[in-house]
Amino acid sequence: MHKIKVDDKEFEIFLENDNLNKRIRLLGIQINLDYEGKCPLFIGVLNGSFLFMADLIKEIDVPCEVAFMRVASYEGTSSSGKVKELIGLPDDIEGRDIIIVEDIVDTGLTINHIIKTLKEKNPASVRVSSLLVKPSALQYDVEELAYVGFEIPNEFVVGYGLDYNGLGRNLNDIYRATEG
Ligand code: IMP
Repeated sequence: MHKIKVDDKEFEIFLENDNLNKRIRLLGIQINLDYEGKCPLFIGVLNGSFLFMADLIKEIDVPCEVAFMRVASYEGTSSSGKVKELIGLPDDIEGRDIIIVEDIVDTGLTINHIIKTLKEKNPASVRVSSLLVKPSALQYDVEELAYVGFEIPNEFVVGYGLDYNGLGRNLNDIYRATEG
């Protein structure tokens, strides 16, 4: 088993880049069908979504716009439970079809907060594409979660944009923490 160390923690290979890309291609096909005749605005949640956004957007062939925003709510391997302010939200959201692009939905607190804030700006629609979802950690019913890459167990993962203590975002594949 291919193992690596990120900061003080050991990780093992979980989802290889090839696998990620195959799945992202399918998500793109689905989005292209669903948004035919529309011009969605993709809003990536920084920092974690930057690689997923880059690969997803390459699969989109309807006219579209891309923006990024950020919200910090997570430190180490357990959620702080606090969601901070949204920074850099685009101001042309009214009447737009929004697709929020996330790296991972864990408890759902962050995405729930983002959706609520976006809806106050009267978009035509809001949907979420998250590369990863941990269904057993979800504490909120996120009905906007339309395009999910992979459902994963409640384990800490790193790589392909996702970090552990700020490190590991550059890894091509996704790794999961080994026990202990
Ligand atoms: P939630 O608010 O509990 O859904 O947490 C969402 C955020 O926590 C994500 O956008 C990530 O930044 C971070 N996060 C949750 N689980 C992981 C993980 O396994 N690895 C890295 N970051 C994670």
